[in-house]
Amino acid sequence: MEILKKYNTALQECLGKAVAHKEPHQLYDPIKYILSLGGKRIRPALTLMVCDFFGSDFKKAMNAALAVELFHNFSLIHDDIMDNAPLRRGEKTVHEKWDVNTAILSGDAMLILAYRFFENYEPYMFQELAKLFSETALQVCEGQQHDMDFETRDNVTLVEYIQMIDHKTAVLLGAAMKMGAIVTEASEGDKDKIYQFGKNLGIAFQLQDDYLDVFGNPETFGKQVGGDIISNKKTILYLMALGQSSSAQAEELEHLFSINPKNPTDKIATVREIFLTSGAAEATREEIEKYNNHAFSLLEGINISEDKKEMFRQFGKDLMERNV
Ligand code: IPE
Ligand code: IPE
Ligand code: MG
Ligand code: MG
Ligand code: MG
Repeated sequence: MEILKKYNTALQECLGKAVAHKEPHQLYDPIKYILSLGGKRIRPALTLMVCDFFGSDFKKAMNAALAVELFHNFSLIHDDIMDNAPLRRGEKTVHEKWDVNTAILSGDAMLILAYRFFENYEPYMFQELAKLFSETALQVCEGQQHDMDFETRDNVTLVEYIQMIDHKTAVLLGAAMKMGAIVTEASEGDKDKIYQFGKNLGIAFQLQDDYLDVFGNPETFGKQVGGDIISNKKTILYLMALGQSSSAQAEELEHLFSINPKNPTDKIATVREIFLTSGAAEATREEIEKYNNHAFSLLEGINISEDKKEMFRQFGKDLMERNV
């Protein structure tokens, strides 16, 4: 993303040095591996961008940004075990390339490495950052548990789903942005507002992720397309489709989401078709726009210049149109 380029260049350099090549290799190699696969680096770039926009040298927020990206990558390693995912960023997932035990422990080490980056701040700032981080990390665990529980539940509501993605994904985007504001010592009001802005963008971001999981291009998406359907994830598409289908179609969908066929090709094709014909795909696009627009409305009260707000809006639009 064009707007993030300046931050991503600086991040790239620091991330390369963030984790040392040490013994035992079986512990550190997977960490190096997942980081080397890149990814969009949206969260740490947002930390730096917020710090910059509130008037400080963005490098002041680098340690917080590294913490956020390490935490995110830790959560992906463990998420891929939980979701049985074969692919991440176009390459083998850590538990496939090594094994599950390795992925668990390398993930754990990454979480601890993430925390250590906060030690580079003065005690009062360390405390505020670490507190936000701990609260956020626990919410991510809660969201992840709900996500797993929903796989085998057949009565998930849209409200529950939004709450689940708020926790597993959106709070980290909110926290990433708030950390940028903490480092630059923005006002309490601005810290809260930027957090809410990030959280709403984060909900739109996860809705888009769910959409791409079904309709993304397998050549470029970098993850297994159809993975959510295989795992019976109760995503926005599923919930919208249930609400908008004829009773026969709804019954078929419920049945398909209660089975785990060995070869899921037909299941994926049928579900995709139902998502399209029921109008669920379109309704999902509308929800994404709704959360994005709500995020934009929250920008209004923040004490930064109009051109910076416009850059945040542009960033939101880029996220909504992304295909990876
Ligand atoms: C993937 O996040 C996990 C979600 C919360 C959807 P990203 O799409 O930001 O993954 P990378 O870091 O760019 O690979
Ligand atoms: C992941 O949600 C959220 C976290 C990693 C905490 P998903 O399971 O949808 O993420 P992807 O699609 O595997 O990246
Ligand atoms: Mg996953
Ligand atoms: Mg998951
Ligand atoms: Mg996903």
